Amino acid sequence: MMMSPNLRKFALTLHIIVSVGWIGAVIAYLALVAATMTSNEEQMVRSAYLAMEPITWFALVPLAFASLVTGLVMSLGTPWGLFRHYWVLAKLLLTVIATLVLLSYTKTVSFIANIAANPSSDLSRLMGGGGLLHPGIGLLVLLVIVILSVYKPQGLTRYGWHKQQEKRKVPQP
Ligand code: HEM
Repeated sequence: MMMSPNLRKFALTLHIIVSVGWIGAVIAYLALVAATMTSNEEQMVRSAYLAMEPITWFALVPLAFASLVTGLVMSLGTPWGLFRHYWVLAKLLLTVIATLVLLSYTKTVSFIANIAANPSSDLSRLMGGGGLLHPGIGLLVLLVIVILSVYKPQGLTRYGWHKQQEKRKVPQP
């Protein structure tokens, strides 16, 4: 079902807010990782590890799903379609993969936050946990998605090509 132009603008606004918001939340998470790596103050390190959990559950996970859902709406509600253009298909795959990796990583985040919450715990146990790898690669993937979104590189899938031929066969009034 195609959206009206007004509805399309509104939905696109939401899509951009949540998707780019997701990127912002990843950057905030990376700031916490940076704090654990650079600070010598135990208070700072402990609270940075603790704060990773609410950022994950209240920002990263909801924004990832919101980005996916609004992205599906933008695809299915416009002539772009979901499987017709390589850039849309690539965005879908990268977003799904990033979301799945995020979900699998939530266990680690909760594990780390639990250790940090115990005032007598030894924080050196957390070395290596809460590292740069997952959020760092996640950020790079999200930046690739933004570039795909804005440049929209040409390229029809086989399915998209057939759909285009079908449309051309219908006589235009
Ligand atoms: C992190 C994930 C995502 C980011 C950062 C993102 C970002 C953006 C941005 C900035 C635009 C506006 C581009 C423009 O109008 O010039 C856009 C449009 C669009 N996005 Fe996404 N997006 C994401 C996920 C998705 C997903 C998962 C899909 C599809 C399944 C999708 C489908 C679309 C479509 C079809 C448009 C064009 C809408 C239109 O022409 O009205 N996006 N996206």
